[in-house]
Amino acid sequence: MHKLIKEIIKSSELENQLTAKGWLRTRRDSKGGFSFLELNDGSCFESLQVIAPDSLENYQTEILNLHPGSSLAVSGQLKKSPGGEQSIELHAEKIEVYGFSDIAEYPLQKKRISFEKLRELAHLRARTNTFGAVTRVRNCLSAATHRFFQERSFYYLNTPIITANDCEGAGEMFQVSTLDLSKIKGDVDYSHDFFKRRAGLTVSGQLSAETYACALGRVYTFGPTFRAENSHTSRHLSEFWMIEPEMAFADLDDDAQLATEYLKYLITALLNECPKDMEFFDNRIKKGIIGELSKLVDADFQKITYTEAVDILEKSNEKFEFDVSWGIDLQSEHERYLTEKKFNTPVIVTDYPKEIKAFYMRMNDDNKTVRAMDVLCPGIGEIIGGSQREERLDKLEERILSMGMDLADYWWYLDLRKYGTVPHAGFGLGFERMVQFCTGMENIRDVIPFPRTPGHAEF
Ligand code: 4AD
Ligand code: MG
Repeated sequence: MHKLIKEIIKSSELENQLTAKGWLRTRRDSKGGFSFLELNDGSCFESLQVIAPDSLENYQTEILNLHPGSSLAVSGQLKKSPGGEQSIELHAEKIEVYGFSDIAEYPLQKKRISFEKLRELAHLRARTNTFGAVTRVRNCLSAATHRFFQERSFYYLNTPIITANDCEGAGEMFQVSTLDLSKIKGDVDYSHDFFKRRAGLTVSGQLSAETYACALGRVYTFGPTFRAENSHTSRHLSEFWMIEPEMAFADLDDDAQLATEYLKYLITALLNECPKDMEFFDNRIKKGIIGELSKLVDADFQKITYTEAVDILEKSNEKFEFDVSWGIDLQSEHERYLTEKKFNTPVIVTDYPKEIKAFYMRMNDDNKTVRAMDVLCPGIGEIIGGSQREERLDKLEERILSMGMDLADYWWYLDLRKYGTVPHAGFGLGFERMVQFCTGMENIRDVIPFPRTPGHAEF
């Protein structure tokens, strides 16, 4: 049902004359000389029931040829419906057809289509209940993100999409070049390239966010990030959106506190603002998700170190596909054991071995672990990755060199440590992982409008 109409119902001004526009979901012809049309305009989950009498001048010629997908404007009277599921209905006095839809060809018929198949129809899947709901949830979480950070005096920062820095150092940057690489034999001389250096799409806005946090105190980014990771899992995209807050004069405890408050804020906003969409996810996608999310708002998140996590996993008697020992990168099965079986709540794992984390994280006194944190959630695993940053110039230089990276590439980042360095910390929340978590959708490809994954960039 159209959002506007909801407002009218609230103000109980029924018997109102109005025009509703949208796309037809279904048409049912009654023997009583009228048709039921289910009209959806995407503004909210519910459709509007329209009663189209055969007295309409285009009833025989047009209305009886309306099939799912057609676009209409219906003018008439809004009335309380006498029975059935619909509480109100629109009694049409005039129906204008914008565009017919070919019943033989329109792919979104009544029969259920798999999410995989819908990915091949990405231009039409927005018209389905699921993708309408996913899109409204994304909108709600985006708006709540800005509210959350604005209320806490963080400035919204736009960081570059094209960059020369591989922030995570994982070698997963997509290259950006105007050279015709197919014509170049041997080594490429990037001094002839557009930026006169090798450039790529950003994997994270963090380094730029640190720069501004070390001037404005608190900033956050909310932008697209890109990773040329050849992962075919249900939790990886090649293009995804990340929210990265960064705080000066803050340590890892402040960071974990902010992450916890942020997650709870997002969930609270979603449950309050999208009840109908969430009801749908609870009924059709993941039973009990509303209850699980509500519980989380009051839950204490568990906080353990990586070393404690490994100890728990080793003693668990659980059969893991990947063996556990100190030093391994935790796999999704390990993360899920901790959140789902051991603690049954989100778990913040801190102080990972330096070998498996990025160069910028603050070294602990043991010289073996760094001030990292991952926030793991039931059903998803890692949803947030963050750290306290290395603010000591000598330690940072040492780390960069020991990782075989070039100090010269980071001169500007090092400068922040030369001129009035401060302890600072931040994190990155994978927006699509959060949407997955909140909706119970199985595959991350189904929570973003146009998913990019290896081999897929159509639409
Ligand atoms: O853990 P990551 O790699 O951390 C960073 O990028 C830091 N620079 C963040 C920071 O401290 N400012 O990524 C952060 C989050 C992950 O926890 C995960 O939720 C998400 O980004 N993520 C992905 N989401 C979808 N597809 C992928 N390929 C992802 N890789 C990471
Ligand atoms: Mg990570």
